[in-house]
Amino acid sequence: QADLKTKKIGKRIEYMEQCASTQIVAHQLAQEGAPDGTVVIAELQTEGRGRLMRKWDSAKGQGIWMSIILRPDVPPHKAPQFTLVAAVAIVRAIQSVTGLEASIKWPNDILFGTKKATGILTELQSDADGIQALIIGIGVNVNQEREDFDAAVQDIATSLRLESGQPINRRELVQEILHFLEVYTELYIEKGFAPLKILWEGHSATIGKAIRARMSRETLEGIAEGITEDGVLQLRTADGKLHGIYSADIELK
Ligand code: BTN
Repeated sequence: QADLKTKKIGKRIEYMEQCASTQIVAHQLAQEGAPDGTVVIAELQTEGRGRLMRKWDSAKGQGIWMSIILRPDVPPHKAPQFTLVAAVAIVRAIQSVTGLEASIKWPNDILFGTKKATGILTELQSDADGIQALIIGIGVNVNQEREDFDAAVQDIATSLRLESGQPINRRELVQEILHFLEVYTELYIEKGFAPLKILWEGHSATIGKAIRARMSRETLEGIAEGITEDGVLQLRTADGKLHGIYSADIELK
């Protein structure tokens, strides 16, 4: 904490050896009034969770399992943009610490090739007055070796160590993630989403690609043309129609 470059994010850090999920702890702290920029970080999560109720493998000491409480003064429909802002911050932090270039698969996966190294889970506490808190959960696979992953995900998961061929200092990476998250949330608050959209598209593994989007009620195939100012993915199907995708599982074809 002493080495943090940030003004706000990480000024309060709750560090735990173990918890069920840093998301659950952060929700509780946010409800109790924890300040903007509070960070919850754990060595081990016993019930780490991902999007769409999936389990998130969070082995002890090998990754970064953290949740950040933000209290931006924006309407609830802007919450998904913060997932994209966080993704850009993480890609920049990985670049700064390891020199590796990761790419972003809409909305929340950070990939090397087709393998996932990081997931982001943004959750919302809101009421009639708007957003009370955003809980941004970040899981980074840092020092896992291939056999540390469950057999079921060995072919689709990777870690920074596997990509760079050397162990990575987790503390330094946390500092850089918090630093870039602060830089980009400030940019967002000052200038809106437009400059972040450009940065995001620059790191995107999705834009311009043929994809399959699985949603709860239908599956669409087509070309991902871009994202809107609200972070909605725009998919052009073969019949020429443009569809706005708010939430889906994306497969690159
Ligand atoms: C996903 O890719 O589906 C999102 C994964 C998010 C995992 C992180 S790890 C820290 C925080 N606590 C959780 O239980 N989940 C998020």
